[in-house]
Amino acid sequence: MAAKALRSGMHVHALARSTAEGSAQERVRRAVLEAQAETLQGLTVIEGDITEDGLGIDSGLLPSRIGFILHCAACVEFAPEARQLNQRVNVEGVNRVLRLAKAHRAPLVHVSTAYVAGLRQGPCMEEELEEGQAHRNAYEQSKVSGEKLVREWAISTGIPAMILRPAIVTGDSRKGIAIRFNTIYEMLRAFDLLGPAIGDQEIRIVGNPLTTKNLVPVDYVADLAWELITAGRSGTYHLTHPRPLSLCDLKKVFEELFGSNGVRFVTDDELKCAAPTRAERICHRAMAGYRSYLNAPESVFDRRNLDDTLGDRLPRAPEVDVAYFRRILEYARSRQWRGVCESAPAAAPHPQRHAGPVREYFEKFLEEKLDRALLPDVRRLSGRLCINVTGGTPSRWSVHVQDGVLREVKLNGDHGQCLFHVGESVFMQIVSGTLSPQQAFLSRRAEIDGDMELALRFITVMAQFFRRFPYVPADSSHA
Ligand SMILES: NC(=O)c1ccc[n+]([C@@H]2O[C@H](COP(=O)([O-])OP(=O)(O)OC[C@H]3O[C@@H](n4cnc5c(N)ncnc54)[C@H](OP(=O)(O)O)[C@@H]3O)[C@@H](O)[C@H]2O)c1
Repeated sequence: MAAKALRSGMHVHALARSTAEGSAQERVRRAVLEAQAETLQGLTVIEGDITEDGLGIDSGLLPSRIGFILHCAACVEFAPEARQLNQRVNVEGVNRVLRLAKAHRAPLVHVSTAYVAGLRQGPCMEEELEEGQAHRNAYEQSKVSGEKLVREWAISTGIPAMILRPAIVTGDSRKGIAIRFNTIYEMLRAFDLLGPAIGDQEIRIVGNPLTTKNLVPVDYVADLAWELITAGRSGTYHLTHPRPLSLCDLKKVFEELFGSNGVRFVTDDELKCAAPTRAERICHRAMAGYRSYLNAPESVFDRRNLDDTLGDRLPRAPEVDVAYFRRILEYARSRQWRGVCESAPAAAPHPQRHAGPVREYFEKFLEEKLDRALLPDVRRLSGRLCINVTGGTPSRWSVHVQDGVLREVKLNGDHGQCLFHVGESVFMQIVSGTLSPQQAFLSRRAEIDGDMELALRFITVMAQFFRRFPYVPADSSHA
């Protein structure tokens, strides 16, 4: 959207955060260039954070006249441990954006999601929001609350608001470009990474083959959004694909792409009929966050408002076929599955230096748990792993677990059977329970070497452990 706005001669003020991977300015410029912007002229980056009062920005940096605000920032995490962050960013953050928009009398374009429909079945109209439906996760619920705030704000202030509801956004239809590899990419990556472990075996996955998945290439989403903004008619719009894929279609695509012997969708009961194979266990663990999206039927996203508003100007939806998947897969591989603003984990750490909060975690918090079961019902987990914490003050920690009991934690011990590489800030998010280790691994914020199956078993158990024993460092700026 920023690339389009700059192309049309608009001035874009982009609010973004600085991270260990770069300043707000660097990150936005990289992302906008990657999205094929021909020019960065007219782009101003303002550092801010929508969870802070006044969005954490120096108000003097804002232009005196704002044409409209496009609100895109969100916490797109589905794991239960992200519940609080979902609320902070997707609800309280929206409220702060609304306050800013009101102060400037600026119209708002709010990016929601088609999945506010939750577990509703059958047609869902664009103007419908809360119809008593249940949701798959706290992310969906938080997006409902955010959308509700926007609707109430538009009524109470009389300022125009447009709500855009994309389905599952995937790479550009022509070149496969994506600036971050989340949602469906995490499944693609799991298959790509685990291909050798799967070999020729058939994999049973719990899912309903008739369920559809509405995937929309990002350029189509941006084209639709741009046309709607240009048309300037307030309202709620489904930015969805008119021809969603069924899981059956996706299965064929995965077979073509990964050359495996096939995926078979089964019910929970069918899965229980035979013990899962090693390859199945790996797949199930890797896809844990997405189970509910494979199982429950997807809503039918009615596009009446979109069709009526755009009429002849409605862009043609690109095909989401094997050739398209090949393009997005090749592109993701060419970027080593790392988003344009994410840097690679640093090289091996210096043996003498170790980080304050990381050291505290291993030497105080974890050592207090020595010779105790990690979790009451985990008795069959044994192995040695090594955690290589990279970033500002790197360190390497070996951990020995025997029959579910934590036996040893040691600085600079041996490499063990599997080695995790993770940046310090991501590590602190994981141990504080705000980011699941599965999510960190699948989104490539953590890397694994060595015995993949053991690593995935550890990840599953550790996810429960971090939820049960979240770590709050003495210096809470790391939380
Ligand atoms: N991806 C999809 O399939 C999909 C589908 C439907 C709707 N959506 C919606 O589309 C929007 C973009 O999603 P996405 O998939 O592109 O997710 P994304 O890549 O995670 O982008 C979300 C952005 O929000 C920013 N952000 C998060 N917390 C922030 C904060 N406190 N202050 C400032 N910025 C913050 C993130 O900044 P950092 O880079 O600094 O973390 C990130 O750039 C969201 O509103 C999402 O709900 C996405």
